[in-house]
Formats: sequence, structure tokens, C-alpha cells
Amino acid sequence: MLTRDDCLALDAADPLAKKRNEFSMPEGVIYLDGNSLGVPPKAALERLRHTAETEWGVGLIRSWNDAGWMDLPQTLGAKLARLMGVGTDEVLAVDTVTINLFKLAGALLGRTPGGIAAEQGEFPTDNHVMEGLSRFTGAHMHRVPPGTRPKDLPEGVTVFIKSGVHYRSAEIADFEGYEREAAQRGIAIIWDLSHATGLVDLKLKDWGAKYAVGCGYKFLSGGPGAPAFLYCDAGENGVLEHPIPGWLGHKRPFGFEDAYEPDSSIVRWRTSSPPILGLAALDGAVSVYDDVDMAEVEAKAQKLGDLFIERANALGLQIACAGVGQRRGGHVVISHDDGYAIVQALIARNIIGDFREPDIMRFGFNPLYNGYTEVFDAGLALAEVIETRQWDQPQFTAKKAVT
Ligand SMILES: Cc1ncc(COP(=O)(O)O)c(C=O)c1O
Repeated sequence: MLTRDDCLALDAADPLAKKRNEFSMPEGVIYLDGNSLGVPPKAALERLRHTAETEWGVGLIRSWNDAGWMDLPQTLGAKLARLMGVGTDEVLAVDTVTINLFKLAGALLGRTPGGIAAEQGEFPTDNHVMEGLSRFTGAHMHRVPPGTRPKDLPEGVTVFIKSGVHYRSAEIADFEGYEREAAQRGIAIIWDLSHATGLVDLKLKDWGAKYAVGCGYKFLSGGPGAPAFLYCDAGENGVLEHPIPGWLGHKRPFGFEDAYEPDSSIVRWRTSSPPILGLAALDGAVSVYDDVDMAEVEAKAQKLGDLFIERANALGLQIACAGVGQRRGGHVVISHDDGYAIVQALIARNIIGDFREPDIMRFGFNPLYNGYTEVFDAGLALAEVIETRQWDQPQFTAKKAVT
């Protein structure tokens, strides 16, 4: 097991360590929840302030043109595209994950009617919205067992929703293999990249992926409730008709025509007025990736996770994700009957992770602001909390609504 001195040496040699200064990290906190809500990048806060005070406060309505507000969903989408390995004209920063799933799946079913499939235990909203779409369209909804590959999906399925990194197990999907099997069966996969973007070295184009959605507030650190994004292969943009058309997806929105004529580019996926303050924060946040190699980010996340798992293994804890040396997303999952209270006891010590029912403790590692030494220290604190049963106090065991 690495010593604290080893960790200090790793931090000193880490090319990503300097990125931490670009984040507004509160003093004295070890933040291991960037897989849920990222720490604000200073550039995001500055951009938000500028957009509110100057673009809105002074520029007023002129800023729709002068400050590039109207095109922000596309210009920000182009920056996100680099993080996914797709074309700059193929991503839109828009709406929420749930709504984008509805739009993409609705459009795909409109073109190729058939069934929808999603895994049991997938992030709940993915199933909820697909069941809603199923009720709405009559398309049969299949809840398939976790790990079902496209070649084993039920007959008739044409749309499959799948997480790129699973929110519980942190499993990174076999993107390329899934796409190969799906192509053979004429199935379209919509990837939910909420836990993958900004963390995994994604090469969607090379892997044959054509459709994806994801959120802006986790590893991308775009702020609470940040806008989501939608990726659609350029070849499909002029063809697919999505089920929530609106004026800003129109070819000539300011023609104010009665008849709807969708734009033939990624713009057609737009529906409504863009939430400029949220987009501005995300736009500022994404700039921290300008000089970052995503392969380095993914590799460091793996090493930080390994370090934490080594400590958990030494405590005899049950690891519910890939173990040391195995590929996983940016969080480590430990299952424990008293997980809720343990996480609360750690939070009381300013070490912030999260808990998911029924017994999952999640600790997320963002390689842009988390370092080896603090992860080592968090591991020591975990050991102390468990070995001295520090968690066994009413203020930690009584559950609150939001954890
Ligand atoms: C995998 C996944 N999909 C979707 C969501 C939620 O998406 P939204 O609230 O943007 O609809 C989350 C939120 O944590 C998530 O983890």
C-alpha cells in the first residue's frame, strides 16, 4: 500500500496537479463528490458574473446577438464535442438529460418503429422517460437485465438506452462492441454519458456511436442543474424529426411562420429559448479542459480510485465496483449496511462523498482537482470512522431527504 510520502511524491510529479488552482475549492474540504456536483471552476464563476452583470445588465437585449447568446447552444456544443471525440457540428448544449433522451428516442422510433430497451437498475430517469414515451407511442418497453448486450436484446427492439459509465457500479461500457452488435441488428443506441463526459477518454466517432446525451453538472462542473447536451451524428440531423419541435429549431425562427420547417443541422434539436446564465457557467467551466489530455484524466481517475480501494480492502469493506488495476469510471463504490451514517460522519469531518440507497457509498475523484495525498487522507479518515464506530451517533444515523 502507498504511504503518505509516496502520495506527496505522486502529487509533485502529477502534470494535472496545477489544474486544482483553476477551481474555487473551499478551504479544508476534501471533496469526493464531483461525480454528482462538480466544484466550481473559477472561469465558470467569472463567466457567470460577466454574463449577468455586463452582457445582461448593460448589453440587455442586444446581447442575444452581440454576446453570442443565440448561438451559445452550438458554440458550447462544439467545445463539448472535443471531449467526446465527435464533430464540432454534432453537439448541442440544450435542455436536460431526460428531455434529450425523449427527443432522440422519439425521433428514432418515428423513423424506425419498434421496441425500446433499457437496463433494470439504469439511472431511474432513463427508464421513467422511456416508459413515458412507450405509453405515448405504443412502442413496447423492455426492461432488460443489467449487462444485456445488443445481440441478446428481445426481437423488435430498435432503440436501446445505455449508460457509458454506470452511476452505481462505475462500469465503463464496451462502447465499440455494443455498437458493432447493434449495427448488425439495426438497433440505435442512445448513450447516457452523464458520468462519462469530462472523465473518460471518449472516442464516440471511432466507436461508431451516433447518439448520446449527458449532463453538465458532474465532472464537467457546470453548476447545479447545468444544461445538458445532445449528440447526433451529422448524417442524421437533416433526417430525424424529434417530438418536441419548437420555434428555435425552425430553419427561420425569426420569420415567425405558421408552418414548421426544421433546420437541417444540429440546430433542429433546439426547442426553446436557451437558459443563458446556466449555459454561460458551463461554457466557462468547460474552458478548463482546453489544455487537458483526456487519456491522462481517465488514467489518473483510475489511480486515485485504486488508492482509495486499497484502503477499503485493508478494512475488509465490500467493494461494489471494479477493483484495483481494473478499468472503472470516476467513482468508487463501497457497500455497507451503515453506509448512510458513515458518509454523514465523514461529511462532519469535511470529507464529502455521497450515499445511494440501499447501502452504497460513492466516492468520486475528479483528476482536475483531486490529488493523491488528500485521497490518502480521506482513506485514513474512513478507517478511523469505521474502526472507532464514530458513525454510530444519532446525528449521523437519522436520514435526511437529500444525501
Ligand atoms: C446517469 C444519469 N442520467 C440522468 C441523470 C439526470 O438527468 P436530468 O436531471 O438532467 O434529466 C442523472 C443525474 O444524476 C444521471 O446520473
